[in-house]
Amino acid sequence: MPASASANIGVVGLAVMGSNLARNLASREGNTVAVFNRSPERTRTLTSEHPEAGFVASEGYDDFVASLAKPRTAIIMVQAGKGTDAVISELVARFEPGDIIVDGGNANFHDTIRREGEIAPTGIHFVGTGISGGEEGALNGPSIMPGGSAESYETLGPILASIAAIAEGEPCVTHVGTDGAGHFVKMVHNGIEYADMQLIAEAYDLIRQGTGKSPAEIADIFAEWNTGELESYLIEITAEVLRQTDASTGRPLVDVILDEAGAKGTGAWTVQNALDLGVPTSGIAEAVFARSLSSKRAQREAASDLPGPAQAWTVADGDADAFIEDVRLALYASKIIAYSQGFDEIIAGAEQYGWDVKKGDIAKIWRAGCIIRARFLNRIADAYADDPALVALVVAPYFRDAVAGAQEAWRRVVAIAAQSGIPTPAFSSSLAYYDGLRAQRLPAALIQGQRDFFGAHTYKRIDKEGVFHTLWSGDHSEIETTPSSH
Ligand code: 6PG
Repeated sequence: MPASASANIGVVGLAVMGSNLARNLASREGNTVAVFNRSPERTRTLTSEHPEAGFVASEGYDDFVASLAKPRTAIIMVQAGKGTDAVISELVARFEPGDIIVDGGNANFHDTIRREGEIAPTGIHFVGTGISGGEEGALNGPSIMPGGSAESYETLGPILASIAAIAEGEPCVTHVGTDGAGHFVKMVHNGIEYADMQLIAEAYDLIRQGTGKSPAEIADIFAEWNTGELESYLIEITAEVLRQTDASTGRPLVDVILDEAGAKGTGAWTVQNALDLGVPTSGIAEAVFARSLSSKRAQREAASDLPGPAQAWTVADGDADAFIEDVRLALYASKIIAYSQGFDEIIAGAEQYGWDVKKGDIAKIWRAGCIIRARFLNRIADAYADDPALVALVVAPYFRDAVAGAQEAWRRVVAIAAQSGIPTPAFSSSLAYYDGLRAQRLPAALIQGQRDFFGAHTYKRIDKEGVFHTLWSGDHSEIETTPSSH
């Protein structure tokens, strides 16, 4: 039983992420860490395996809360959903005004807003916090995205800064905004993660099918790419996965893994909220749908004999290097679009929910620790520093030049993929988005005409102010009208 309120921070939930985060906290100067888990065996295992951490362990909520110094600060690391609500109510029943409850799971930000609203009247702070970096990041330094009140961040900020990853001397943590802002930004982080992974997978598939290179040879290509502008954690681990040989069959591991991608929901939330906010995050959406499609086994089997292109395609002898460079450029351009769309969603979310999100700071805290860490996040931070009101990331000078330099290659890759029947939904939709964005004129005009025809939905004109309707079922003359409400 804990003797006194000696811990400055507590962790509830000691599965892998929770225990690694607790160990990380304990390893930093000045922290004394209280730990609690619903089943005490896990607590005992953690404390006996890591005596160096000096954990203050409890086997009940009363003792756990008693072991925390004021203002009491506890990080909940349990599966998002009902489990989180149960832990919150145990803590709320025992905490006092000024104490801080942190939810470090992948919670839905709508839940976070609700929880914060419910808890605020008690005077207890509730801080929904995105934490990225997987098991390794939790242990050695994650990227941390806290929401909640500015007041709670005064206590929490230094603790989180003590465990965060460091990028160019700066800890990867910032107060993202109030209530659900942290979990919102983490959600978009995950959406970008889905897009980035899908784009890398498409690049691999194109090179494999186009050139016949082995996974190990393609691993070398990714390792090479990782020395340039594509340098990122996901490219780095892709090379490692592709290089792995399966011990039981001797085959490349990637060839024996079932090709059905799982998902725990954060990618889908990113798209659902993008739809609600009216933000075209098409690259992220295609990445989510590609995972869904991969898991539709019965449909895939039923469709597997549908015809494809008459001619099988491979890159001509001697052209492989040029093709691989085209794929690299297409990947880079598509990745820029994924980030541009993701930041658009953050901007729209901030406006909708009243958060003062600093885009450049988000880019900075994603430079290390998190799954989407990448060299070019510095360029994103620069772009927002140069122009905080930047209307779209892709039009910032650096990215404009990057996409301009890549777009011919991007078109060749998407065209050859379509001709040869290789699915590249994220490459293709990113290019379509790019062309849509830069189009002087879109066929949306025709859609407005159709809407006006069947529903009198009205339209605006390019040459004069006002709202108009054509009398389609009458003499086809135009009348000026008030906007349609249906
Ligand atoms: C991270 C990851 C982590 C997890 C996601 C995605 O930032 O550390 O995003 O949170 O990998 O939940 O998981 P799924 O691919 O299973 O949806």
